[in-house]
Amino acid sequence: MKNPIGIFDSGVGGLTVFHEIKKALPHKDIVYFGDTARVPYGSKSKRTIIQYSLQNMIFLLQQHIELLVVACNTSSAYAIEELKKHSSIPIIGVIEPGAKKALSVSKNRRIGIIGTEGTITSGSYEKALKSLDAQCEIFSKPTPLLVPLVEENWIHHKVTKEIIQEYLHEFLENDIDTIIMGCTHYPVLKKVIQEVVGNSITLVDSAESIALELKKMYSSQPIQKTAGNYTFFVSDNPEKFKILGTQILGEDPKNVKKVFFTDAWVIDDFDV
Ligand code: DGL
Repeated sequence: MKNPIGIFDSGVGGLTVFHEIKKALPHKDIVYFGDTARVPYGSKSKRTIIQYSLQNMIFLLQQHIELLVVACNTSSAYAIEELKKHSSIPIIGVIEPGAKKALSVSKNRRIGIIGTEGTITSGSYEKALKSLDAQCEIFSKPTPLLVPLVEENWIHHKVTKEIIQEYLHEFLENDIDTIIMGCTHYPVLKKVIQEVVGNSITLVDSAESIALELKKMYSSQPIQKTAGNYTFFVSDNPEKFKILGTQILGEDPKNVKKVFFTDAWVIDDFDV
């Protein structure tokens, strides 16, 4: 592998981001890490997310990555600043690209955000949106059940549509014209979310936004002739990762390797 891009997520959902980056930069080598042993991140504390994110980054740095993409929205929301303090390579999260894209497509400046508990509680999308346009109106809604539905491969199940309807019916009374899908798993449900919200609402996919951002960043580099190489590391259950990964990518993520984490427990005296 030559100067790969590193991507990490709490699990398989970040493959939506991998997929878009692969399309945008087909010649770039990519190393992906999915923390399938410790997913979900969305319901965990800020401190835990920072700790896991640092460990994931250190592992990817050992794979000699030249740039890190934090595909996980919850990690992007809570850990980006801390990650930047501990590394000199460029680090990109999904929040800024998603916020920029939402503002570029919204006409009435009334923007909805759906995501995990952690992402919504952090207020990171709000901060990013407000710093770009102080006049925009923001409506956020945690929609945590959507992650296990995707993990369960219930993408086309009628229950999934019912849950999305239940989550969003009041939310839609706010005259929103754009919704940020602020979670790696949600682009997998884009079709059914669009059916529920109707075609007058634009769904913003953080995966697409970040791929566009990277394409711009690499635009001055000479185009390689050979296709990129891909390696996937997971912390548990590579078989399940391959099954769900095939659903997301439309092809088998072939080179999947399992890693395990060795650590010792210590008393945590810090407050975050
Ligand atoms: N990857 C997480 C995110 O984008 C969703 C899954 C989880 O809760 O770990 O926020």
